[in-house]
Amino acid sequence: MASVMLGLVLSTTGVDADAAPTGGPAGGTNGRVGRIPCNNSPDLCARQYNHISHLGAHNSAFVRDASNNNSIAGNQYLNATTALDAGLRLLQAQVHLENDTLHLCHGSCQLFDAGLLQHWLAPLTKWLDENPNDVVTLLLVNADEQPAEQFGHAFEASGLAEYGYVQPSPGATNQWPTLEAMIAAGTRLVSFITNIEPSPSHAYLLNEFDYVFETHYAVTELDGFNCTLDRPTNVGDAAAALTSSYLSLVNHFKYQELGAGIMVPDVELLDIVNSPGATTDGNLGLHVQRCTAEWTWTPNFILVDFWDEAGPIAAVDDLNVLSDVTGRRTVSRETTPEEEAEESGKGGDDDGDGDGESAANRDAAMVSYYVLSATCLAGALMLV
Ligand SMILES: *[C@@H]1O[C@H](CO)[C@@H](O)[C@H](O)[C@H]1NC(C)=O
Ligand SMILES: *[C@@H]1O[C@H](CO)[C@@H](O)[C@H](O)[C@H]1NC(C)=O
Ligand SMILES: *[C@@H]1O[C@H](CO)[C@@H](O)[C@H](O)[C@H]1NC(C)=O
Ligand SMILES: *[C@@H]1O[C@H](CO)[C@@H](O)[C@H](O)[C@H]1NC(C)=O
Repeated sequence: MASVMLGLVLSTTGVDADAAPTGGPAGGTNGRVGRIPCNNSPDLCARQYNHISHLGAHNSAFVRDASNNNSIAGNQYLNATTALDAGLRLLQAQVHLENDTLHLCHGSCQLFDAGLLQHWLAPLTKWLDENPNDVVTLLLVNADEQPAEQFGHAFEASGLAEYGYVQPSPGATNQWPTLEAMIAAGTRLVSFITNIEPSPSHAYLLNEFDYVFETHYAVTELDGFNCTLDRPTNVGDAAAALTSSYLSLVNHFKYQELGAGIMVPDVELLDIVNSPGATTDGNLGLHVQRCTAEWTWTPNFILVDFWDEAGPIAAVDDLNVLSDVTGRRTVSRETTPEEEAEESGKGGDDDGDGDGESAANRDAAMVSYYVLSATCLAGALMLV
């Protein structure tokens, strides 16, 4: 059977030598040639955090790769630090309690355990150390409703807590600092946790739904994306949330129903769903344009699956109206793991007609795996 190479090309493009950070972005306009970028663009330095659209990797810790046999519980092909290198500035993931320790698990730790939260956070500290002009946002789902102390332990042990941004007065506000002010203060990490009781000793852990509202997330149809508020329900609708200075989060990923209540990320339609275009139902570009029009405010956060497919960041650059983007790593793949599996499957087709029989077999295997898993969870399984 022929082996298929997975092409992963990483290169840094467009780094402007004049823009090398020296004294922090505040010095950027002191008559120096070239402007210092903040979050990959000099256009963003003087902009308030809440006046910026941030592209995010949904379930960024659940990477579908050879180490987990390309688990269909994975929502990304590439890991969190690669996402940051490529220009994403929001990382989302689910956190569960396993053996009295916080783990990154998807749905359940039996299904997909990406290890200790602390171990996943540590490389993010290193990334922030190495990228002094960048502000990153984390959004963690507190699946087992653990207290701030548990999270605080992981944030402190990983070194990340020292970058934590603290709101001067708690609650939704339109008084967010500019990126350059956050950079100058060294508070370059905004951490939202769902269902967390705020704690003065870990004040950088912000209770997500005191600050952010989200659109629906369990979308299974291309025409199912809209801009309606789904959570939190206590602020009413999107218009009311925006009036109360909530930040907005657009969930833009599509699920496939396998039956029996089992939903998995839909990788077949990524070309449509992640497209920055605005011509076809399901396009990211169309969804965010609709939300901008409906809200008369550009979305702050946009979460996608498999961000390296179909170039979704272009839609977010459009929202930010960027004239100058620099220092992003270009990531391109020749094949996805699914295409690779299909290719090698074709080679092994008994009748050699390459008709995708083996892809059908693989789908059947996935379904039985998930039915098994769902049985073990004794309930419907939604990997969102
Ligand atoms: C991947 O699949 C192979 C063959 O079914 C199995 O032996 C191995 O344990 C699996 N590895 C993981 C990480 O699930
Ligand atoms: C993420 O993936 C890249 C590329 O495969 C690798 O070099 C890097 O070590 C990974 N980062 C972490 C934190 O595992
Ligand atoms: C939790 O502890 C049990 C018992 O010591 C062990 O079998 C299991 O592997 C542990 N789980 C994890 C995710 O470390
Ligand atoms: C918005 O989309 C969600 C998910 O597709 C759906 O459940 C909800 O009814 C929609 N809301 C409106 C007002 O159309």
